[in-house]
Amino acid sequence: MDASHGTAVVGLQWGDEGKGKIVDLLTADHDVIVRYNGGANAGHTVVVEGERYALHLMPSGILQDGRVCVIGNGVVVDPAQLLSEMEGLQARGIDVTPQRLLISDRSHVVMPYHKEHDAAMEQVLAGAAGKGDENLSIGTTKRGIGPTYADKVHRSMAIRMGDLLDASVLRARLDVVCAIRSRELEALGVDVPELDPAALTEAYAAIGQQLAPYITDTVYWLHGAINDGRRLLFEGANACLLDIDHGTFPYVTSSSCSTLGIAPGTGLPGSNIDHVVGIVKAYGTRVGEGPFPTEDLGEDGDLIRERGHEYGTTTGRPRRCGWLDLVAVKYSAMVCGATSLSIMLMDVLSGFDTLQLCTGYRLSDGTVTDRFLPDARQLAQVEPIYESLPGWHEDLTAMTEDHELPTNAQAYLDRIESFTGVPVRFVSVGPDRAQTIRRTGAAVQG
Ligand code: GDP
Ligand code: IMO
Ligand code: MG
Repeated sequence: MDASHGTAVVGLQWGDEGKGKIVDLLTADHDVIVRYNGGANAGHTVVVEGERYALHLMPSGILQDGRVCVIGNGVVVDPAQLLSEMEGLQARGIDVTPQRLLISDRSHVVMPYHKEHDAAMEQVLAGAAGKGDENLSIGTTKRGIGPTYADKVHRSMAIRMGDLLDASVLRARLDVVCAIRSRELEALGVDVPELDPAALTEAYAAIGQQLAPYITDTVYWLHGAINDGRRLLFEGANACLLDIDHGTFPYVTSSSCSTLGIAPGTGLPGSNIDHVVGIVKAYGTRVGEGPFPTEDLGEDGDLIRERGHEYGTTTGRPRRCGWLDLVAVKYSAMVCGATSLSIMLMDVLSGFDTLQLCTGYRLSDGTVTDRFLPDARQLAQVEPIYESLPGWHEDLTAMTEDHELPTNAQAYLDRIESFTGVPVRFVSVGPDRAQTIRRTGAAVQG
């Protein structure tokens, strides 16, 4: 990757494409790694020389020495979870000092009642689903993401990381919030003791003291970094099809997780992004509810799940599996402005005689479209139209050069490029940092 001001790494499907691995890889060419959205709903697994790291709130760039990681204002921070990640990394010899980690004073705090609210809403909505034709529960990670962003939008109920530094501000806010939240939780049928503002203030002010050296105005800091010529890498969490505006609403997360969220989530204008690396799994997966046109509920889906170890990093849930939906990927690449693609988990597809690529949708009235339909109700009605491509049986996991890839794997990558119009720059053939092929023979130019 050329030296540049800013590179964005973003998932072009429903998450878990392997963003963490590519962020870790590209960290070598960047100075500052910035999270701009989401929270501990993300689970990014990075494998370095056989060592496996599961990161949720911490930017994946922390694993390489000398880099600064920033948790931007658009993130919702569960500070207890963050502290435990920091401690876990420190115990493994990773330096997590305030010189290496900055947390925006404007990022919003996930409080325990947000997580209780998230879980309770899911339960109530799941119960309501049987009465209508729609499943209203989202299948969230129960990390309190939706309720925390809702408080941000409601304004007066919100708590930001900067508020943890002043116990009197925190207490005054929690006196009001706890009274309202207790009634809401009660109405949702949650059997928890009345929320105690004094106890919560004590616990969260103490956490604030621990994190105080890290909490700062990251907006000024990031602009200073740009002015100093430092290269920024924006680490997307969740993925474009889970974006609150552009994903398969309502089965989405509550943040702008496409690249469009970078500007509001960091305070940097979009003009600072030169490259957008779209991360694409070589097949399709989804966790939670919502339409997934290419889902395979038969043997092929099961085979992909077992070969790809498709179980969530955050919740351990089995991921729904199926074929690669190029209609969806082309849409996400358009929304995110992808300038290149990284095709991940190619090794998992070894062993299939035939592979299917979805290149269109048949609508219920029989017409065919190559447009993605982000409305969940409409998307649930479509039937995928597949192109069949011959598979390959070679093990790819030890390959390091483009020319080693079997002809049928090359043809598969060529078809991804020709359909999306975006060049494939990296092909990943295993979880380790080293198992990555730089593609030289892109069929289309980016
Ligand atoms: P993220 O949320 O987009 O960072 O992705 P996850 O970490 O949740 O899920 C991707 C999983 O695939 C992780 O367990 C990675 O270690 C693993 N992985 C990444 N790239 C490859 C690959 O090319 N081949 C295989 N077999 N596993 C990979
Ligand atoms: P990474 O960064 C996969 C999904 C959840 C659920 C929906 C809403 O690891 O790719 P939320 O808890 O955010 O309110 O849940 O979004 N979801 C993800 N699925 N990977 C993720 O992140 C996800 N983040 C959210 O499964 O369907
Ligand atoms: Mg993940």
